[in-house]
Amino acid sequence: MSNDDTKDMVETVDVSPRDPDLPQVPGGDVFRQLLHQAVRVADMANSQAMRMALDFAKVYEREQGVRAQFENQLKQMTLMEKQATRYAEDLAGMLRSERERRQELERALEQERIASEELRRTGLQGISHLLLAATIKDRTTGTHLQRVRRYVEAIAERLGLQSALVEEFGYSSVMHDVGKIHTPDHILQSEHHLSDAEFSVIKQHCIDGEKMLGTARFFETARAIAREHHERWDGKGYPDGKKGEEISLAARIVSIADVFDALTSKRPYKEAWSAEAGLKAIEAGAGERFDPELVAGFVALAREGVLERISSEVAASSDDEQLGSSAK
Ligand SMILES: [Fe+2]
Ligand SMILES: [Fe+2]
Repeated sequence: MSNDDTKDMVETVDVSPRDPDLPQVPGGDVFRQLLHQAVRVADMANSQAMRMALDFAKVYEREQGVRAQFENQLKQMTLMEKQATRYAEDLAGMLRSERERRQELERALEQERIASEELRRTGLQGISHLLLAATIKDRTTGTHLQRVRRYVEAIAERLGLQSALVEEFGYSSVMHDVGKIHTPDHILQSEHHLSDAEFSVIKQHCIDGEKMLGTARFFETARAIAREHHERWDGKGYPDGKKGEEISLAARIVSIADVFDALTSKRPYKEAWSAEAGLKAIEAGAGERFDPELVAGFVALAREGVLERISSEVAASSDDEQLGSSAK
């Protein structure tokens, strides 16, 4: 109901007495005014209540919206949290299995390292036993083998070979004459010119040496050296007459070191040559007996004083050993 309708209604209210014979009640206008006021107040209260109700409805609606939104977000967050947790668990699981795999690998590598170290030690022990037997038999000195080893390592190093290979060439070189264990003493120690028959027995030490060194990978280079250290670059050596690069690099190197040391050492049948004379003989054999490139390297080592240093270091260490053993 509008204000105007209420006003009209108030105006039509009859405030006169029911009985026309009764006197007119005074104050009818005052009553109408009061009624007007009451109606206005009621209208105002009514519209205020309406406004409040509408406001409340709006607020309620808004809050419902916010709540729904909030619930939705909460749901999404819960979902994301679950996913994140799962992801973290997966990741942790992956890391754990990765770590376990790595540990397993490290354990395997460590075992492999220990095994190969043991193998190496066993191999080296085998070498020292073989050498002991060979040196007793051949009357070769330990210092000859030490010098050959150091010369071989110096040549190999100069060629730029990897250090593991340099070491392998070195320890393998000391076994070049192990096959002589089978050579009869009278031929081995003969100070006379050998007959053809005796010489063919001597040649056998290369084949015997290779056989003695078995089939282990550790002795692969040593076998090649034992078999080929008397081969010549020009193919006139023994036992197979191999030539040039048919002969393994290790054997070509050992051949130079072995001959040089034999020439510059004192033997029962000869005096020691000077280093200069020995070097000249090696140079003269370049391209015939020896690989010319390796000879050039060996000559360079001599010029740099490396051969002399090796020789005096080996002599000093053998003096120490002798002092040590005589003190015992
Ligand atoms: Fe030999
Ligand atoms: Fe030798």
